[in-house]
Amino acid sequence: MPAKIVTVVNMKGGVGKTTTVIALAETLAAVDNAKVLVIDLDAQASASYSIAGDRVLADLIQNDRTIDAYFEACLVHNQPIPLMDLIHHNASSITHRSAAPLPISLLASSVNLRVTEREIVYALTERGYGMNAIEARATKRLETDLLSASREFDYIIVDCAPGISAFTAAAVSLAELVIVPTIPDYLSTYGMQAFVRRVFPELAAGSNSRHKPHVLISRKKPVKDQQAYHDLLRQYAARQESEFCLFETVIPDNQAVSTSVGKHHKTYLQKYPVPLSRSYGQLADEVKAVWQ
Ligand SMILES: Nc1ncnc2c1ncn2[C@@H]1O[C@H](COP(=O)(O)OP(=O)(O)OP(=O)(O)O)[C@@H](O)[C@H]1O
Ligand SMILES: [Mg+2]
Repeated sequence: MPAKIVTVVNMKGGVGKTTTVIALAETLAAVDNAKVLVIDLDAQASASYSIAGDRVLADLIQNDRTIDAYFEACLVHNQPIPLMDLIHHNASSITHRSAAPLPISLLASSVNLRVTEREIVYALTERGYGMNAIEARATKRLETDLLSASREFDYIIVDCAPGISAFTAAAVSLAELVIVPTIPDYLSTYGMQAFVRRVFPELAAGSNSRHKPHVLISRKKPVKDQQAYHDLLRQYAARQESEFCLFETVIPDNQAVSTSVGKHHKTYLQKYPVPLSRSYGQLADEVKAVWQ
């Protein structure tokens, strides 16, 4: 069975995309012993740093084993390098109920990705490509290479930079499930709706997305205002013509998450104490149910 591809995306920054990618990867690996590949498509490289740590990440960047080196070779120089060669296996040191670390692999990013994207756009524009053709090329390339990688994994989870770029468009169009983490507040709610309306109709043709994008309420605080926006999103999602679905799972705003970056956790339950382990367990179940 080829891997199930999940892309996590939102126009807005700081809504919990990277946190969702990592927690979902770690939960699927912990609970089901699923083999998970995390692809970091964000030049901020937070997912890479968080999974592999700074020393391993520096090593991967130094040896050109990053997604920007891959895109540069394929799209600018027309010299494809095998995606599998860039993947760092056994990237996690976290364990759960056994001594073996979680089976997570990483295709890392680096700060050069932003520069690489500009270079690709310039190089291909000079060769007469428009923006749609550039996105189509990035998508085709990734699709071909992920197909060969996908037999090795149960899930491929892609972390995107905030906003929309050629790489994000490619990741959205390759995904079978798109998760849009959203804080239930004014800016995030309207930003999410604009994003979904803008991105999905354009991508619908020729897209693999079998499902509507799934909104995940994230970083929810127990305040009246956020409850009102959550209720509003529920009402929208329940309409037949709604462009998105809403997961039942709610990820609460929790200090264990906000202080976890850079901390060394030995076990899954140290990193995700109750109620987080419960919330992420429920999210993993809802994600699996999408394919049932
Ligand atoms: N459930 C949560 N409770 C508390 N803090 C959280 C939660 N989820 C995320 N955060 C914190 O919010 C900040 C933003 O989270 P994260 O990096 O996951 O967002 P992002 O959408 O990936 O951001 P960017 O758009 O910059 O990539 C981080 O400091 C993170 O630790
Ligand atoms: Mg992020």
